[in-house]
Amino acid sequence: MALLDVIYLLFSSVVTLCVVCSATDDFTGPGTLPSFKRIVIGRCEDFKQGYVNPRIDKEELSNMNCTEIWNSLESAVAFREPCDVIKEDYQHFISLTKHTHDTDSALFWDGWDVYDTVTEYAFRGNRRTSLDTTLIGYTGNYLSFCGSTTHPSGFDTEACPAEGECGFGVGSIDAFWAAASTYFAEYARGDTKVFFNSNRPGGAFQSNNSYFAQYELAILTSEDVASMNINLITLIGETPGDTCTSASIIELERILDEKGIAHNCVENSPDVMHMMCIDHIGDDECTGIYEFSGQQPITVQWQWYTILILTVIGFRTT
Ligand SMILES: *[C@@H]1O[C@H](CO)[C@@H](O)[C@H](O)[C@H]1NC(C)=O
Ligand SMILES: *[C@@H]1O[C@H](CO)[C@@H](O)[C@H](O)[C@H]1NC(C)=O
Repeated sequence: MALLDVIYLLFSSVVTLCVVCSATDDFTGPGTLPSFKRIVIGRCEDFKQGYVNPRIDKEELSNMNCTEIWNSLESAVAFREPCDVIKEDYQHFISLTKHTHDTDSALFWDGWDVYDTVTEYAFRGNRRTSLDTTLIGYTGNYLSFCGSTTHPSGFDTEACPAEGECGFGVGSIDAFWAAASTYFAEYARGDTKVFFNSNRPGGAFQSNNSYFAQYELAILTSEDVASMNINLITLIGETPGDTCTSASIIELERILDEKGIAHNCVENSPDVMHMMCIDHIGDDECTGIYEFSGQQPITVQWQWYTILILTVIGFRTT
């Protein structure tokens, strides 16, 4: 073998190695917290007490073993390549954490831009059940976690896949949410709601790369779900986008029609507006939202009495 060949071979193997090493280190999401285990177990214990969602049936959750739940989550993720994890790997975890939800309470949503509104509206499960008011959703909320084949803990503490980095619904975190969304839809009963931001880029309802469309809507049946109230929300200060007659909503309604699930659509419904306007009382969209017809406010009457008394006093002193 000529010296040049040897140099070439060395060079190309180094390049190959670096392609392999960079492929696994390229994730842009935060690494797994060293406290991940304690967080998962702590959240589970917390949830079981009804501190997170006071409407849970504590009796139903009382036999759940949070250590066992942690073990099932760990075995789906630890010591594995992050992108190898698929939805089905969480089946055992889901079977240990699932619990029933209130009928007529499921609140679906899609698109991160409406998430804060959903959380506020659900009011810790008091008003509606959203995925993050269930044990499964609460366990994973805001957390980034993934396996490592080399780290002694079995978890990568440096970087984990950000949303979509392993493909749609695949990888330790995205597969977790795919499994969680599927579970959430399986437990929806009766009348449901779905929230979208009206000016979401690409349309309020989207079927591609959408957890709502592919893991929730796809498995809803008219046997379990009677109706869906479609809510188009324009955040205060933003420009309205899709309306109830836009193509994306008509497409969603077509899918619901096919399933035999009743539906209606509302734009900026009064209950959502009241909630959002708390932080925007002076804004145009919120003008008049808290005014009530009927009795005059007491302050106006006071002004009239004051004027009357002053006039009488003024009259008598002249
Ligand atoms: C919970 O599960 C762990 C792990 O399987 C076990 O060691 C522990 O005894 C269980 N605790 C209860 C209260 O059953
Ligand atoms: C959705 O995905 C399908 C299949 O990949 C593609 O044909 C279609 O154009 C996509 N639709 C949108 C709106 O991107």
